[in-house]
Amino acid sequence: MNVKQDFDFRQGIVLEPEVSDFPLLKKAPFIDEGTDPIDPSRYYSPKFMAREWDKMWSRIWNFAGFSSDIPDIGDYFTYDLGPESFLIVRTGEGSVEAYYNVCQHRGRRLVEGDFGSVADSFTCPFHGWQYGLDGSLKQVTDRETFRPEALCGDLGLKRVRCETENGMIFLTIDSSAPPLKDALGIIPEHFAPFDIPKMKVVKEVTVEWPVNWKTAADVFYEAYHVHVLHPQITGAMDDYNVQIDLYDKGVSRFLVAFGRISPRWLDQESLNDDLKGMLSVAGLDDADFTGNLSSVRSAIASAMRSKFEAKGHDCSSYHDSQLVDSWNYGIFPNVQIGIYPEGALVQRWRPHPTDPEKCFFDVLNLVHPELAGLSPRDAYLDWRSDVNLDKYTRPPRQILRTEEEQRSGLGLVGYQDYENIIKVQPGMRSKGYEGVVLCEQESRIRHYHTEIDRYLSVS
Ligand code: FES
Repeated sequence: MNVKQDFDFRQGIVLEPEVSDFPLLKKAPFIDEGTDPIDPSRYYSPKFMAREWDKMWSRIWNFAGFSSDIPDIGDYFTYDLGPESFLIVRTGEGSVEAYYNVCQHRGRRLVEGDFGSVADSFTCPFHGWQYGLDGSLKQVTDRETFRPEALCGDLGLKRVRCETENGMIFLTIDSSAPPLKDALGIIPEHFAPFDIPKMKVVKEVTVEWPVNWKTAADVFYEAYHVHVLHPQITGAMDDYNVQIDLYDKGVSRFLVAFGRISPRWLDQESLNDDLKGMLSVAGLDDADFTGNLSSVRSAIASAMRSKFEAKGHDCSSYHDSQLVDSWNYGIFPNVQIGIYPEGALVQRWRPHPTDPEKCFFDVLNLVHPELAGLSPRDAYLDWRSDVNLDKYTRPPRQILRTEEEQRSGLGLVGYQDYENIIKVQPGMRSKGYEGVVLCEQESRIRHYHTEIDRYLSVS
């Protein structure tokens, strides 16, 4: 195997060692978070789950959804997190508000659907109380039958703080949390080149998995497992020479080279079928490809650049790597976003309301309308289906209930991850297992767990 026998964990891997003038490729300084095993009880303990809710989920900024999903005043969507449900509403051209999704009369969930639009108010399905877009209580059915003092308090919807960054809407329950920008660390700077507000969600699926949310998230925070669980994608993906960067606030990323054979492959010389496939989707005929294997990525990047520029999209600010590779960011603690000029792949793990050994896994695919159509990395990972954005309507959230639905809704890679993690969760409870041992290829896992510990240690 053609891997680095002299691997230096302090230096790590640099994706483009010869490039020094592209700031977003810059390797982050090494952060030493030790080597101690992670206590498995955090993956199943109800007590830990309760502490996590009180000290972390209730204090952080949570990614709720995209502003492109609520373009017009009165548009809304709901977002469920643990035991809570939130209602996110477009209240003005540049303003979005978030409320607890609970009627102040008898506590009924106010809005049941995932998405929708109202003219100017929300009506509770129980007794018909009405709330304005600004959350105020506008109408009480049979008001005269309430004694005045019963209605004298503030009975408007309870507001939660909500901020938008580059088209991404976040909310926090904590009224004293620092501003969103502080919590996101490098994310605004690294996402600035991408026009997320223009991107459209073309697919959203949710599945309930019988594992703790961290059991699921951990898998997606490393590429170490790829050669074993997903060998089918290593013909055109270098799963070993992955640049891993750890940043402040529990944020991290990896940069994974596509269009390059895994060094674990014996044949490092042939233009294999996977590379041919990527070239072909980029519009290049592999029969005409005369370069050596090391030039496959630059050939794809150049083809992508031409494709995008032909559609009037300025690509001058992108590095070739952003046009070919996987740039995958982890926003603390439960969101991973692969971000590209032509779209984004969002993966999010949400805690279950009551059971520490269940979670919800959401996958959202976004496409930039000007750059719609398959790009090589999309096709390669089976991330998204082609869409007609001329007649765009926001697709409903699709709940994947059966194994068959998971297999088709998540794609092969996601389904392989599912098949694996359901065999990890029981191990966390085993008396024969002492703790999660991590290599440096898995340092992003330790990084977000360390940040969880930071929140949990605050009294
Ligand atoms: Fe909503 Fe009664 S619970 S109107």
